[in-house]
Amino acid sequence: MNCTQMSDQVFQLKVNIEEDGYLFEGLWPVPNGVSINSYLIKGDKTAIIDLTQDIYELTSSLEQQMEQTGVNIEEIDYVIVNHMEPDHSGMLRAFVEKNTTCRIVCSAKAAPLLEQFSSVPMGRVDIVGDGDTLDLGDGMVLRFFMIPNVHWPETMATYLESEKILFPCDAFGSYGAVKEQAFDDQLSDERVAFFEQESLRYYANIVATFSPFVEKAIEKLSSLPIDAIAPSHGIVWRKNPSAIINHYKRYASYAKGPAEPEVCLIWASMYGNTGKTIAPLIKGIKSEGVEVRTFRVPQDDLGHILAAAWRAAGLVFAMPTYEYKMFPPMAQVIEDLMIKKVKNRKVLRVGSYGWVGGAEKDFRTRTEKAGWDIMDSIEFQGAPGDEDLEAMEQAGKELAQKIKQFCSK
Ligand code: FEO
Repeated sequence: MNCTQMSDQVFQLKVNIEEDGYLFEGLWPVPNGVSINSYLIKGDKTAIIDLTQDIYELTSSLEQQMEQTGVNIEEIDYVIVNHMEPDHSGMLRAFVEKNTTCRIVCSAKAAPLLEQFSSVPMGRVDIVGDGDTLDLGDGMVLRFFMIPNVHWPETMATYLESEKILFPCDAFGSYGAVKEQAFDDQLSDERVAFFEQESLRYYANIVATFSPFVEKAIEKLSSLPIDAIAPSHGIVWRKNPSAIINHYKRYASYAKGPAEPEVCLIWASMYGNTGKTIAPLIKGIKSEGVEVRTFRVPQDDLGHILAAAWRAAGLVFAMPTYEYKMFPPMAQVIEDLMIKKVKNRKVLRVGSYGWVGGAEKDFRTRTEKAGWDIMDSIEFQGAPGDEDLEAMEQAGKELAQKIKQFCSK
């Protein structure tokens, strides 16, 4: 990978993780890869904004790209640590051993973590606060804005005043490996749409829990004139920076609901009996013109389920009883949706109860604090009969009607 020159004095250095089976954060499949971007700014002094993970191929690629800009590690004067998560700072420990004079610029909350994660002594750290500036000379002035919890409490964004570029780290990021063409204006509409899709999955997986903080960050940054948004994951938005800002605004609004007028249907079946309910449920939902995205657990991965659930105003859970409780992989998905604060949804639960049941009680107990408006469940013993299947279609229809009413408010 080569470095990308953004202007006379600004360069993007990026690496991609595209390894088969790699789990981002140790948890999220990234079948389309994920980029980790850094930015190098040359004034009289040189600064690098964010680093990368301490994986040899990534760190050596970043060093090579630095050299393409005519700068080697020892010549960097400042490392701006927008965010301490190791995908952006893992390389820092080795970096400060090679460059024994550079200053590390970060928020007050990041400073103690720097010592813990990267053995950076406090004596090398310059703490900045909201609105503080760092003048690199030759017209390059950086201004800092604290954007806590987007995505960790210590996170800040850096703004290059002369070129009106915002470097917000995780905020406005997306999944998806980024090739040589790193800007929205270099990509086809189809490719931009791909990154927009990937931004939703990234948001739902990584940022969703912190949606109120996303709204605060957007509000705080709203008065800045912005010509480009250069996040540390995904493409740079310079043709239309407001596109990704508006996507993030919309994603954050889903936390309060209503989200989009559609359904995320998640189902599980041991021997196919609960599985028989899916077709009539879908038929009933679609009869009202409402779209459905369908996932089966444990076969489908949580990252994609979360993305669909985050944008859907309605959720359907179809699962059987398993040893007096919910089918375990479904219980885990529901737990994960609650951790990610998927709230204010219209919800329906159906399923086979086997001998004495238990899934229904387990479902109601676990979701007491979910913030969901849950319809009466439909259960049947063993296999569903014709009446049960008709009831499924009707329940799907009623759910869709509720969703349309909810979303029209
Ligand atoms: Fe890309 Fe929160 O780290």
